[in-house]
Amino acid sequence: MLLSIYKGEDMCGIYGYIGEKSVEEVMKGIKRLEYRGYDSAGIAFQSGEKLNEDENTTNGENITVIKNKGEISNLERIVLNKNLKSNVSIGHTRWATHGEPSIKNSHPHLSGDGRWAIVHNGIIENYLDLKEDLGLQVESETDTEVVALLLEKYYNGNVLSTIKNVCEKLNGSYAFAIITSHSPNKIFVAKRNSPVVVGYGKRYGVVCSDINSIKGANIYVLENEQYAVIERGKINIFDKNLMAINTSELGVVKKVEGGKLGDYSHYMLKEIDEIPTAIKRTVNLYNNIDTLNDALHKLKFKNILIIGCGTAYHAGLIGKRLFEEEGIHCECEIASEFRYKPFVDKKNTLAIFVSQSGETADTINALKLCKQKGLKTLAITNVRNSSITFVADYCIYTCAGSEIGVASTKAYNCQLAIFHILSKYFNYIKNGDSKMFYDEIKNLKSIATLIRNNEIKPICRHIAQKIYKSKSIYMIGRGLDYSIAAEASLKLKEISYIHCEAYPAGELKHGTISLIDKNTFVFAFVTQEKIKDKTFSNINEVVAREGKIILFSPFDNSNKKVVEEIKVPKIKERYYPLFIINYLQLISYYTALLLGNNPDKPRSLAKSVTVE
Ligand code: M6R
Repeated sequence: MLLSIYKGEDMCGIYGYIGEKSVEEVMKGIKRLEYRGYDSAGIAFQSGEKLNEDENTTNGENITVIKNKGEISNLERIVLNKNLKSNVSIGHTRWATHGEPSIKNSHPHLSGDGRWAIVHNGIIENYLDLKEDLGLQVESETDTEVVALLLEKYYNGNVLSTIKNVCEKLNGSYAFAIITSHSPNKIFVAKRNSPVVVGYGKRYGVVCSDINSIKGANIYVLENEQYAVIERGKINIFDKNLMAINTSELGVVKKVEGGKLGDYSHYMLKEIDEIPTAIKRTVNLYNNIDTLNDALHKLKFKNILIIGCGTAYHAGLIGKRLFEEEGIHCECEIASEFRYKPFVDKKNTLAIFVSQSGETADTINALKLCKQKGLKTLAITNVRNSSITFVADYCIYTCAGSEIGVASTKAYNCQLAIFHILSKYFNYIKNGDSKMFYDEIKNLKSIATLIRNNEIKPICRHIAQKIYKSKSIYMIGRGLDYSIAAEASLKLKEISYIHCEAYPAGELKHGTISLIDKNTFVFAFVTQEKIKDKTFSNINEVVAREGKIILFSPFDNSNKKVVEEIKVPKIKERYYPLFIINYLQLISYYTALLLGNNPDKPRSLAKSVTVE
């Protein structure tokens, strides 16, 4: 099967549809892509009818473009009111990189003669040179409009060969979907280094930048330098010389079904409530040594390097500790830092890349770097067929189910479950002790059963009420407890917009304690017997500065001035991160609600960070 490196480099989204009600289909399609970014959106469709033009609407030659700023619902309001009839449409969601979010800069872009409309993911690095050398008159600040003008300029009577000729002049990355009145009833697609998939069903054809957001029975991942021509019920794919490729050789790719909101008001809450099931599903997939032997081919190595971003990195911090407990040397790095530091080759290293989406550009590029350096690579991801799965040597899947809320919740718990399983599996590979592996599987299932969100929601709401007016919050802990603090503080800040910092508890007194006063809440996590007394001392130091401690611990606390004490059940210490984070996910959620924020779509953030 021919599957390319499905590489993500862009946070925008493309959706094109050819068939009945194409406008409605594209609007639904780009809504599914909203998770990648949403500061503007637009649609172009073929139609014989001209609409009244205004700041949102432009007519070309049998093509009309409608665009708007802000969330996709802003575009939807205009488009769906007009009852538009078209069988060929392309749409785009934009997360601004070249030029501010504005109607002018949104895609699709029309050529000057109005005969070409184009949407684009990726970055054309030489667009300014092309613009200047050829004296092109552009209206927007984008690289994409330059491509629309090039298509017009170099049109040679054959649409596909014109597209190819123009692509050959471009440096950088692109996934293009193009419609043109020179060849109606077709969508043309070109790809280099930006993901794009094409598909068709009985009476329709479709193109999308995200494999899991595409509607279609027969889906193909385009290779670099390939072109596709999509019609109703059929697709033709061509190589870089425009030689036709037999699609039966490409192999149809399976996609993951998206989650539904059901009775929930937000995906985030739904996804937190799904945590116990998600953990059990993940554990059940890897609940025996044979399955792991098949997936990992009894990998042998001396050292582990874990790499990820954001929440995935925080899961890695726990993984590091779990591997160290098995006597395996392990380092954990932030992908965007790792890529630019000197590479020190520790012989015999397994590099593990953690990514919920499997699309994070920094993580994927760090993976490629490690491969170049000859390391064995393993991806832990939640999304089958995501870019990372095509690059890594081995893949292990979290079975969290689709995670739509921008704040990662159930995926994090499942990443932790995988690290627990791997730590005991690697121990088995080294020492042949399978009992510890199977005990771990049993324990993980019991912990999943212990997570009872409905029981803890009242206390979480209560804490949210207390803290939501804060200007600044700190979270402290040592060892595994510090890793809990790191993830908890990211969760709180990303959706509440309250400044929140995690500190190793012992480090506070080396500077940051000067910021603690009577208005400061400090969350303290104390779950590890060996270091509990040390953290309790740090809590006393905070209380002495009138800081307001919110304590999570199974241990007795003697400091009467702690303002909130959440006594968590006694469980084996290594499972506390998996267990306690749920409180903090819920507290963050309720705090965001109290502040009037949409927890599913925090400002300036997108679900997949596919820019570096
Ligand atoms: O898809 P990934 O796991 O690679 O994403 C990494 C981070 O962008 C992600 O975890 C981010 O930090 C979340 N918004 C946190 O909730």
